[in-house]
Amino acid sequence: MLKEENLLYEGKAKRVYKTDNENEYVVYYKDDATAFNGEKKESIDSKGILNNKISTIIFEMLNENGIDTHFVKNLSEREQLVKKVTILPLEVIVRNITAGSFCKRYGIEEGIVLDEPIFEFSYKDDDLGDPMLNDDHAFAMKLATREELKFLREETLKINDLLKDFFLKLNLKLVDFKIEFGKDSQGKIILADEISPDTCRLWDVDTNEKLDKDRFRRNLGGLVESYTEVLSRMNK
Ligand code: TMP
Ligand code: ASP
Repeated sequence: MLKEENLLYEGKAKRVYKTDNENEYVVYYKDDATAFNGEKKESIDSKGILNNKISTIIFEMLNENGIDTHFVKNLSEREQLVKKVTILPLEVIVRNITAGSFCKRYGIEEGIVLDEPIFEFSYKDDDLGDPMLNDDHAFAMKLATREELKFLREETLKINDLLKDFFLKLNLKLVDFKIEFGKDSQGKIILADEISPDTCRLWDVDTNEKLDKDRFRRNLGGLVESYTEVLSRMNK
């Protein structure tokens, strides 16, 4: 079904193909893992299969809980059918526990539970290294209207509550995550892209073991085992 001539876009971890239906795309999950804006790159056998399965379960859960998403259905081991959207050039990040670039930027230790979630935007531009920006920057750059920025914040905090509960039931702490939104053909903003251990930090509640892409970023090893563990907790 996926022909080279239908390829619309190839990203670091996925490919997007057009379909016979002008309102739908197929997303294909690759095995490629990258970090530090593509500087570190490796192919990790079956990562794409695991992320497709994990992201499918999460998007189904969000759809069932009233979040509008691009997800239509799972097609195969590596493919999902999704609604066609134009991705907003904003990476939307939520932090519940300190980690990653937050610790690095502000010199704060990892693992501090935050009293309230931190909501953050990055400008999606690899050449610029995805710089952080605030609402005024996004508005000035005409990336979104004030109403859209308000909606993005409110919808993202709802998603955070749903994801935190969902992962806690799997004995996992949702440390932080990145999501992306897109505009559908009617101009409505809906959740798009993926949610997986590539895009979330997930720590075991009892041991604080990292079960996410930090295993790759920090050369800890055992990435496939960790993603398999996350999926197996979802399937229990
Ligand atoms: P950060 O601490 O590196 O800013 O990352 C915050 C969260 O966003 C973390 O869960 C990993 C995720 N993330 C992505 O999904 N893609 C990215 O390119 C980056 C930098 C982070
Ligand atoms: N995916 C990002 C990259 O390759 C970074 C990351 O997830 O850490 O640059």
